[in-house]
Amino acid sequence: MITLALIGSVVLLSAFAFYKYMTANHGVFKKMGIEHQPTSWFFGNFNLAIKYGIFEVQKVFYNKYKDKKVYGWYDTRKPVLVVKDLDMIKDIFVKNFASFVDRYNLFEVNPPFRDNLLNLRGEHWKHVRNIVTPAFSSGRIKKMTSHIHRNAKILLDNLQHICETGQEVELRDLSACFTLDVIASTGFGLEINTLKDPKNKFATEAQKVINPNPVLFTFVLFIPELGKIFSKLGFPILPQKSMDYFAQVVDQIIEKRKRDGLNGKVNDFLDLVMNAEAEAGHGEGQELTRTEIHAQALLFIFAGFDTTATVLSFTLFFLAMNPEVLKKAQQEVDAKCGQDLPTYDTAQTLTYLDMCINESIRVASPAIFINRRCVQDTNIQGIHIPKDMIILIPICAIHSDPEIYPDPDKFDPERFNSENKATRHPYAHLPFGQGPRNCIGMRLALLELKIVMAAILQKFSPVPCSKTVYPIKLSKVRPRAQDGLWVKFEQRKK
Ligand code: HEM
Repeated sequence: MITLALIGSVVLLSAFAFYKYMTANHGVFKKMGIEHQPTSWFFGNFNLAIKYGIFEVQKVFYNKYKDKKVYGWYDTRKPVLVVKDLDMIKDIFVKNFASFVDRYNLFEVNPPFRDNLLNLRGEHWKHVRNIVTPAFSSGRIKKMTSHIHRNAKILLDNLQHICETGQEVELRDLSACFTLDVIASTGFGLEINTLKDPKNKFATEAQKVINPNPVLFTFVLFIPELGKIFSKLGFPILPQKSMDYFAQVVDQIIEKRKRDGLNGKVNDFLDLVMNAEAEAGHGEGQELTRTEIHAQALLFIFAGFDTTATVLSFTLFFLAMNPEVLKKAQQEVDAKCGQDLPTYDTAQTLTYLDMCINESIRVASPAIFINRRCVQDTNIQGIHIPKDMIILIPICAIHSDPEIYPDPDKFDPERFNSENKATRHPYAHLPFGQGPRNCIGMRLALLELKIVMAAILQKFSPVPCSKTVYPIKLSKVRPRAQDGLWVKFEQRKK
């Protein structure tokens, strides 16, 4: 009897402690005088994200708090300030950057990935960003063009076969093979040929990393502190073996290049960071440690291939669904490039293609939101933001605000002609973020996209097929089309 009573008390106390833990922060927005949805003790407001999906939930509450600059949101127990006002967003990204230099990381990652740019904070972030930035200068990116050309030619061979055999293709998978091949070569000088051999080791390990264990991930989403515990118990959220595999690949390449005297001769990302490697100990001044090199190399793969594949697949799909836009894009490519692959310089002149890409990223942005962590109490546009508050910029909702983009579901590249762009707030289009912590790979991604799109459009026309589903229904959990992006390719008549 006593044992039963003891067990009962322990259970009750634990339940109470858990309840207290989950609800401890639920009064934060009320104290700040900021509106928010009623909370559930366990979900906070997260049940609404489950109900609507990650895209729709942003739009629903962005519209509900239409006249507000900000609203409050509880990701289970964690308060998140959603900032809608574009002038406030500008201050957060630029004017008050010193207060918002860090991101909020959902879970801790182990080395070798731990010290990557996305995760790093404060001075450590600044140190690594300064060293890595020259890898993305125009001069460096220009030298990467040959890697993009080589992979674009392999893709064209592949499409020729698809076209001749009349196959219907899902653009997402095809695009991911291409962008992974480009990252492997622009990053590490590797020719992995995923288009010909989709099961190569580099590609299969990369897929494992971008698809973390869903069960562990869900637990950590609800109780972020569990991330550290799982990791200590030997169950990291990101697959350790795959991370170690990539670190080994990097080490092997570095050692081989040192042996063969190839430092500074391969024109890829590793080339630059190898030269910045510290002889020993901590990276100081303009040097990086080997662990920091591993982390940036891994991030280069994971930030660069899935995002670019999303944009490439959606843009090709939108062109297939809008024949008049396709025709105009092809006319521009023919006029500017003829039958040659676009060089770095001709790619910069493809303004209509650029408009198509921008419009496609607006409708289906690979990044659903951007976050920052406030590192010191700050007042912005009359709103007090306390230290440690997490800020969320709802880019999908901004990109589909009908007051900024009338008829927002319609694909219309003309929204990005210079006249229309000039009438909008410069922070109304944020696919790559903004300010000192924006996407470091933006120019490389845009160059890669323009070159490969132009190469495809010179020879082929993407057209609807029997499996095409349009309008697109976006997945509830990630930037993918629920029914896939199915098209056929027709040979262009000369
Ligand atoms: C279309 C393709 C891409 C999109 C849409 C995209 C989007 C983004 C976004 C939204 C951010 C966060 C920006 C912010 O917080 O303000 C980001 C950060 C980052 N991206 Fe990209 N990205 C793309 C391609 C790439 C590529 C190709 C690379 C590298 C090869 C890359 C490397 C990075 C890195 C390293 C960061 C972190 C920067 C930092 O914290 O200093 N991205 N990207």
